[in-house]
Amino acid sequence: MRVLLIGSGGREHALAVGLAADPSVDFLAAAPGNPGIAQVAELHEVTATDPAAVAALAVELRADLVVIGPEAPLVAGVADAVRAKGIAAFGPSAAAARLEGSKAFAKEVMSAAGVPTARSFACTTVEAARAALEELGAPYVVKNDGLAAGKGVVVTDSLEAAVKHAEECGTVVIEEYLSGPEVSLFVVTDGTAVAPLMPAQDFKRLADGDEGPNTGGMGAYAPLDWAPADLTERVVRETVEPTLAEMRRRGTPFSGLLYVGLALTPGGPKVIEFNARFGDPETQVVLALLDTPLGGLLNASATGTLAEHPALSWKSGSAITVVVASHNYPGTPRTGDVISGAEVPGVIHAGTARRPDGALISAGGRVLSVTAVGDDLPGAREAAYALVEGVRLEGAQYRTDIALKAVEGRVTL
Ligand code: AMP
Ligand code: GLY
Repeated sequence: MRVLLIGSGGREHALAVGLAADPSVDFLAAAPGNPGIAQVAELHEVTATDPAAVAALAVELRADLVVIGPEAPLVAGVADAVRAKGIAAFGPSAAAARLEGSKAFAKEVMSAAGVPTARSFACTTVEAARAALEELGAPYVVKNDGLAAGKGVVVTDSLEAAVKHAEECGTVVIEEYLSGPEVSLFVVTDGTAVAPLMPAQDFKRLADGDEGPNTGGMGAYAPLDWAPADLTERVVRETVEPTLAEMRRRGTPFSGLLYVGLALTPGGPKVIEFNARFGDPETQVVLALLDTPLGGLLNASATGTLAEHPALSWKSGSAITVVVASHNYPGTPRTGDVISGAEVPGVIHAGTARRPDGALISAGGRVLSVTAVGDDLPGAREAAYALVEGVRLEGAQYRTDIALKAVEGRVTL
C-alpha cells in the first residue's frame, strides 16, 4: 500500500513511525513533514490546507491512502478532494469535520444525539455572553467558536476576564464548568463501525501543578489505571454511537478519528470537546502501545471496512510523552534556536526545521515530544525524563510532573 501522510507536527511524526512499521505499507510519503518524519518518509512540499494541491500530490505519488493529520486541512475539505480523485482518505469530510471546526455545531449535534455534556449557550454578542455567564456562574468557561489550536478556551473565576475573552472572540460558546479528571478517548470509525483506542490523559496547562495558560498539550500518558473499567464501553455507548448516528442522519457521516475529550464528573463521563483528528501529544503514547498495524487500521476506516477489521491488540506496559516547548510558548514562540540530542529514537519532532548548514533548529511552539515505553508507569516516566535530559534547546520549557499524580496514586474520581 502506498501512503501519503499530510501534516508536520508531533502527531504526524508518531503516525509516520506507526505507518512505516506496518509491513503492508511499502511506500510512505509525507507533506510537508518535518526533519523527524524525514527519517521514515519521503518528504514533499504542499500547502496542507489546499485541497486541490493535496489531491494532485496524491495522484502524482499514486497513493492508495491519504492520512490527514491536522484539523485545518480537514475543515478545508482535503479529504473530500482526495476522495473525488478515487483515492481513499483517512479523515472526515469538511461537513463532518465541523464537529471540531465549530464548537456551536458540536453542541447542537450533542444535544440532538442526547450526549452527556456541559450545559451551554452559543453567543454572538457580548451582552448575550454576559447574560449566559451570569446564568451559569463561576468558574466561567468561554470557548472561541472556531479553530484555535487548543488555545481558544478560557476557564476563569473572573467575570470580567470571561467577558473580555468573549468580546475578543466574537462568536463564543459559554458553558457549565465540568469538574473531574480529564480523559482523551480516540475512536477510529468508518462512519458506522468503531474501534476505540486506549484512553490517555493529556496535560493542557503549561506549568507543573496544572498552573499557567492552556496550551495544545504538554504531555500525556497511557494506560489510565485509575479510570473505571467500563469507561470506554460506556463512552462508546452513550456518546460515540449516538453522535455517529446523528451525523449519518444529517447526511454527513463522520469517518476517521473521533477524539472525545471527557471530564469524568461525579455524574459520569461528560464531553468537553470533540476533535476530528488524533490528539497531540496523546497520539504519541497511544500509538507507542498499539500492536495492531496502523496502516491497515486507518485503511479500514477510509474504505468503510472497519467491521471486518480484527480486534485491536496492545503491548503491555505504559507509555509517557513529555513535550519540550520553545521559549515564550504558548505566546509567540522564539524560533531558530539550535537543538541537540534530538535525533535519537523516542524523540518525536513537532516544530523543528533543518538550517541550510544542516543544524536542527526550533521552528514552532511545541518543538519535540519525548516518548518512552516502560514496564510500568514509573519506569516509563524515568525513561522519558532521562531522554529529556539529553535534549539541549536554549529557553526550553517542559513540565516535570507528567503522569506524576497517577504514579503517586493521587488521581481521584
Ligand atoms: P477544549 O479546547 O474545549 O478542550 O478546552 C481546553 C481545556 O479547557 C480543557 O482541556 C479543559 O481543561 C478546559 N475546559 C474546557 N471546557 C471545560 C468545561 N466545561 N469545564 C471545565 N474545564 C473545561
Ligand atoms: N492534546 C489536545 C489536542 O490534541 O487537542
